[in-house]
Amino acid sequence: MYTGLLHTHRLTVILFLLLFLVKLILLLMNRSETLENFSNKTKIPERVIEVLFLGTGIYLLVMAAEINMMMILKLVAVFASIPLAIIGFKKSNKLLATLSVVLIIAAYGLAEMNKVGVSDEPLAAEIVTDANAANFDQMALGKAIFDRNCQLCHGADGKLGASGSKDLTVSELSDAEVTSLINNGKNAMPPYKDLLSETEISAVQAYVKSFRK
Ligand code: HEC
Repeated sequence: MYTGLLHTHRLTVILFLLLFLVKLILLLMNRSETLENFSNKTKIPERVIEVLFLGTGIYLLVMAAEINMMMILKLVAVFASIPLAIIGFKKSNKLLATLSVVLIIAAYGLAEMNKVGVSDEPLAAEIVTDANAANFDQMALGKAIFDRNCQLCHGADGKLGASGSKDLTVSELSDAEVTSLINNGKNAMPPYKDLLSETEISAVQAYVKSFRK
């Protein structure tokens, strides 16, 4: 359900953006007749896209593991762009219309940058990250990373399931599949290959496996 809505949201955001880009280009090129034609033809699909885009957005926000500054900025940009777009296109005001499209693109960019769970805050000093060190403790490292990066969505016991995530205690994925999932992410889960070292990824993979009965 969550995943389906996430994909619907992403798709409708892109359609919404394309629609407004076409309209803006027509307005800036002074093609008012074509613009009027295009607007009339796309009126119903536009309403449908709008409702889906805002509706799925609100649902995703309610289900989100965390609401952060980026999400608030994104919301402000989206809601500010609506009156600007209405006035800008109705009055053929190029400045307002451009501003509205810039705000929608900015919101889209913020959404792409906004990845919950990618904190790179330093781990506690006593956590050893060097796998060759004599006092290396893989489980301690895995737990530290899990607490910092994963529990937001998965919960301290792996069962939370926020943002459409899955219960880790009943996971049946192989070690290789989990490692690949942590590296590359999936749906709402961000990729970690640029944030964590291989040692850290194996440690957190071993740690999440310990949740299984
Ligand atoms: C923003 C939320 C979020 C964060 C943060 C997150 N995950 Fe996930 N995780 C998900 C989602 C969503 C799925 C389900 C992906 C799918 O299959 O659609 C998932 C699935 C998984 C699964 C597979 C469960 C199964 O059996 O299908 C594992 C294992 C996992 N995450 C581990 C981690 C680890 C380890 C971290 C931290 C390094 C982490 N996750 C951080 C959201 C998150």
